[in-house]
Amino acid sequence: MTDTSVPGSSDSDVAGPDDPTPPTNLGFGVDVGGSGIKGGIVDLDTGELVGERFKVLTPQPATPEAVARGVAEVVAHFDWTGPVGVTLPGVVTDGIMRTAANIDKAWIGTDVYDLFSGYLGGRQVSVLNDADAAGMAEDAYGAGKGVAGVVMLLTFGTGIGSAILINGTLVPNTELGHLQVGKKEAEHQASSRVREEKGWSYEKWTEKVSEVLETYEALFWPNLFIAGGGISRKSDKWIPLLTNKTPVVPATLLNTAGIVGAAMAVAQGLKT
Ligand code: BGC
Repeated sequence: MTDTSVPGSSDSDVAGPDDPTPPTNLGFGVDVGGSGIKGGIVDLDTGELVGERFKVLTPQPATPEAVARGVAEVVAHFDWTGPVGVTLPGVVTDGIMRTAANIDKAWIGTDVYDLFSGYLGGRQVSVLNDADAAGMAEDAYGAGKGVAGVVMLLTFGTGIGSAILINGTLVPNTELGHLQVGKKEAEHQASSRVREEKGWSYEKWTEKVSEVLETYEALFWPNLFIAGGGISRKSDKWIPLLTNKTPVVPATLLNTAGIVGAAMAVAQGLKT
């Protein structure tokens, strides 16, 4: 059984004199991915999850209504009644999802604030791009903590997600995975999915990743790249092979970054 009790909540044990002070600055985030919809309660003072995260499988097809039902199920699992932040793998501006490169095309044009707040009893929601959420979390609590200047987080997965933060402030929806590098879009030659599909070694794949990073650094001159996505767990196998100029460090929050960033976004009242 997953322990999802919140210290200090009505269903947890009464804190004794020796127990640490329970966190009070709590938020809730849900990260919508290609295979799972994951959520959890976040301690916004530390960027850590309170208890375990909970996951339901992403419905197929991943239409807006089906995903929103999944998000509501995740939230209900925790008996959470407060505001909820949600990530999506596409551009969100003025509350509307604009692109859907790696999710059902029915999302394009969907009013995602209406959708999620409708499934969540009309409560306050924030909806933002998945890489932007991960970038906010890594910048505040993870690999980018305390780094001044321009920090660029890239997620290598089915696609390439990007987030740019300038001294902690997000520039949303940068979508650099779709930038043309040579003959193709960056994510069509250097995502983790391309490596798997082509059966490439890390040596071969990092040649492509280096080209992509060199293109980004020529345009944005970041102080630091943070590499996220599942493949960042094996970063010791490939980050040392990169040949671009700017330092590249692995993400440290790993599979909680999207949840944490989503919770931060709604706590800050972020509207994209
Ligand atoms: C989408 C981005 C997303 C990234 C990672 C890209 O294909 O266009 O919005 O952040 O994949 O999921």
